[in-house]
Amino acid sequence: MNEHVTSTRINDEAQTPSPISMGDGKHDSAPELMRGARAAPERKKSLHIKTYGCQMNVYDSERMADILRPLGYEMSDRPEGADLVLLNTCHIREKASEKVYSEIGRLKEMREEKEARGEGRMTIAIAGCVAQAEGKEIMNRAPAVDLVIGPQAYHQLPELIARTHRSKGERLAADFAPEAKFDALTAEREVTGPTAFLTVQEGCDKFCTFCVVPYTRGAEWSRPVASILDEARALAAKGVREVTLLGQNVNAYNGVDAGAQSTLAKLMYALAEIDGIDRLRYTTSHPNDMGDDLIEAHRDLPELMPYLHLPVQSGSDKILRAMNRKHGRSAYIELIARIKAARPDIALSGDFIVGFPGETDKDFEDTLDLVRQVGHASAFSFKYSPRPGTPAASMPNQVEAHVADERLQTLNGLLIEQQQAFKEGLVGRTLPILFEKKGRFGDQAIGRSPYLQSVYVEDAVSLMGQIVPVKITASGNNSLQGALLAPVEI
Ligand code: SAH
Ligand code: SF4
Ligand code: F3S
Repeated sequence: MNEHVTSTRINDEAQTPSPISMGDGKHDSAPELMRGARAAPERKKSLHIKTYGCQMNVYDSERMADILRPLGYEMSDRPEGADLVLLNTCHIREKASEKVYSEIGRLKEMREEKEARGEGRMTIAIAGCVAQAEGKEIMNRAPAVDLVIGPQAYHQLPELIARTHRSKGERLAADFAPEAKFDALTAEREVTGPTAFLTVQEGCDKFCTFCVVPYTRGAEWSRPVASILDEARALAAKGVREVTLLGQNVNAYNGVDAGAQSTLAKLMYALAEIDGIDRLRYTTSHPNDMGDDLIEAHRDLPELMPYLHLPVQSGSDKILRAMNRKHGRSAYIELIARIKAARPDIALSGDFIVGFPGETDKDFEDTLDLVRQVGHASAFSFKYSPRPGTPAASMPNQVEAHVADERLQTLNGLLIEQQQAFKEGLVGRTLPILFEKKGRFGDQAIGRSPYLQSVYVEDAVSLMGQIVPVKITASGNNSLQGALLAPVEI
């Protein structure tokens, strides 16, 4: 186990499953905040959440806002003057995790200014993967922090806030209890447009030697099918058309369905039945969990969008072994061939790490070669960042920074070329676009292609939330330009 992982059970009082159920007044210690969950809140309080890291954090941030809304917290775009500021942090690379401490410094100044204005105290809360990995260290290194809460403990948030206000009790919650977390989520979700994330799986058992996720998110766990369907139905009722299913290893999904184990493909067939849900996506997947039924769903399920993020990390067998990825280069290439056979137009995406310990020029060449064979519509490449407590951090032959920098540039160059080629291949085609938000100019609207590119379309603002055929007219750096086939009647 990673020595940096702090797994602290907070005291028994906090084990009560849901903040709502604590509002029954039977608990002597149930604070006013809790009662507020039932009664109308007396005073509106402002909440600012800053989210770092992956989509799972984005989902968690939305759900934390949902948990806090019945307690009187309203979202604010700015941290200045907020009653509660929540940093939802990411531990994946050193840069991401160090940002937290500089941000805490800034918040401390804002807190002093708020107090000087006589506006009361700002509560500073640290959530997410840095909270899980370095909870105690944060408390010691940054005394300005009021509470620390790991990703599986968000149902305890109201209680921790209450303890902060009472200046009494443990203010660090970092135990792994995904079931309790999901049980405690309110059914009410605030929706901001026609697309939504929906977490279906948490945690990771893969233990890639470079990665902190198994330590920060705990073991793989899948939500039961019924609770996912309920959440999706509620989203559809609020106008959501596209749902992206999330999990650190989403394609390892095996939640229970009427006593039996489901799969991600089965879950998607059930979701596609819901009226209003027209598009499904999922991320992130591991190559070893790419089941036959999932590949077939890419062929047979029209709601499943032709896009797949399937990280391989490296094209060198030697490095894949050292990374503990549990598959080789040729297995990945064969898998991609099977997926392309099922869905020839699929847009492939991936993650790559350059400069992993022991990576030679030849290993890097193997990565470039694999990238050329696969062809990507989008991809993310990272310079290896040694993470405390992970096996790779103490491996010999760490690659010099300037070598890794050069490799990153070369790989990025190739991936950008592929991305541009994919987008240019769409010019002239007519694609169904789901309009998501207003553009910056006039009646411009921005939508998404099935292949996940943003598409800018003039005079389409009245089509928000609709899926409309659009002719792709041009390809830009990060997006596409399109035109409606016929003008919209207003
Ligand atoms: N569960 C996903 C990815 C989780 S993290 C998967 O298995 O693919 C997202 C990406 O961050 C990883 O795919 C990897 O490319 C990158 N990453 C993780 N740890 C890293 C590290 N120590 N240094 C650099 N990049 C890292
Ligand atoms: Fe990290 Fe590997 Fe798990 Fe992905 S599969 S989250 S890279 S340990
Ligand atoms: Fe970061 Fe945690 Fe996601 S480490 S990438 S926020 S799972």
